Amino acid sequence: MPKRYHTNTKMSFSSRRRNYMLVSHRRDQFIEFIKGLLQPSFVLDALAESASNSWAHVEELVEEYRHEAPGEPSRLRTAVPSLGIFHTALPLEAAWRSFDARFKVSARRFVAPSFNEIREILNLAQVMAFERSPLKFVSFDGDCTLYSDGKNFDDAALAGQIERLLAAGVTVALVTAAGYGYEADKYEKRLEGLLRVFDDLAVPADALRRFYVCGGECNYLLQLDRDVGGAATLRSREATWDVTFEEAAAATLLDAAEASLRGSADDMGLAGARVIRKTRAVGLIPRVPRREQLDEAVLRVQDALRACRSSVPFCAFNGGSDVWVDVGTKREGVQGFQRLLGIRPENCLHVGDQFLITGNDYASRSSCPCLWITNPTETKRVLADILAVVDGSGVDGRRTPPVSPRAAGDAPPAPPSAARSRAATACPPAGP
Ligand code: IMP
Ligand code: MG
Repeated sequence: MPKRYHTNTKMSFSSRRRNYMLVSHRRDQFIEFIKGLLQPSFVLDALAESASNSWAHVEELVEEYRHEAPGEPSRLRTAVPSLGIFHTALPLEAAWRSFDARFKVSARRFVAPSFNEIREILNLAQVMAFERSPLKFVSFDGDCTLYSDGKNFDDAALAGQIERLLAAGVTVALVTAAGYGYEADKYEKRLEGLLRVFDDLAVPADALRRFYVCGGECNYLLQLDRDVGGAATLRSREATWDVTFEEAAAATLLDAAEASLRGSADDMGLAGARVIRKTRAVGLIPRVPRREQLDEAVLRVQDALRACRSSVPFCAFNGGSDVWVDVGTKREGVQGFQRLLGIRPENCLHVGDQFLITGNDYASRSSCPCLWITNPTETKRVLADILAVVDGSGVDGRRTPPVSPRAAGDAPPAPPSAARSRAATACPPAGP
């Protein structure tokens, strides 16, 4: 790998050598945009009077964006160029009202609505949207979503919620970066606490078969079933999984990724860091992980792999205490399920913790609606709302009013398929 920086003792600060980032890797531009809209109301102590209006305005901007005509960028696209796809309308005003009723945000005088609160309101609006496009498939990330980082599933309450989804006819999948090939026992070990609850509840075989594991982002498919002894057990579904990559191109991609990760380890003095190479992935595991160094390694390897112009999609991410580059992404994983089950994006949901451009749930945004959570406790909180929608009672025990109509005088909406494909071209690539 050629060294690009610090090779000259005679420094020349030409514009070609400057380090900068076009998009901050620790920000979400849409959330920052909404935060900016709410700030004046907070400063004027007018959230109670005007925040509903602001959220209704964002709701309208989202609808305009979803239906923008070719060649006429919507207001939201201009304001937030990095936006991807909205697979459903978002009842943001209703979500704000519900959130405010629960947590009295508008009563606060000293603490403005935070990044996390806006994230949660977006999640709530997305959940409410499933009152209008029924939920048929939910995928969950593993680490930090179903269990703590690097740990195994161990939460009976969360297991009970997942069982209720299965009983309601929803297909559920663990879509995780963890790639153990088709070694079912390794995934079973991670899911031990979930499978134990399924056994205790004697979940019927047809409901068990609605539970899948997709390992290595999108590379390996397994399905739950009942073994002869009656226990829940994972079986390979390799024969029915159509997500594949060209072997030689994938190996070339991983060679470049490995070289970049080793270069990062050297440059940043990560003494004793391990590099692990698998068939579909390569990982860098430092002895003492530091967030900034992991992020730097991710952004470097993304830059190096983009330069390779490989036809193989990849996912390079900061896993919290390691950096991994996987062949394929959760976008291909979720899309694989959509083909396998014959379901549309607006009837699917992915729940994960890694939606920054250095995260691995980010890629799933382009294939289905998503909820961005921060830990398994929050997963349980959003699941309570999801189950209220699935069982028909609705969030807060009532149905959500439809999304506000677009402003009078707006152009009529383009057909949804055209709108979707236009938005898709603007979505950043999976290996961001
Ligand atoms: P996820 O949050 O469930 O997607 O899991 C991400 C974590 O899985 C990473 O931070 C790694 O520690 C771990 N992991 C284990 N095997 C792999 C692999 O083959 N590729 C990527 N991550 C892996
Ligand atoms: Mg995770």
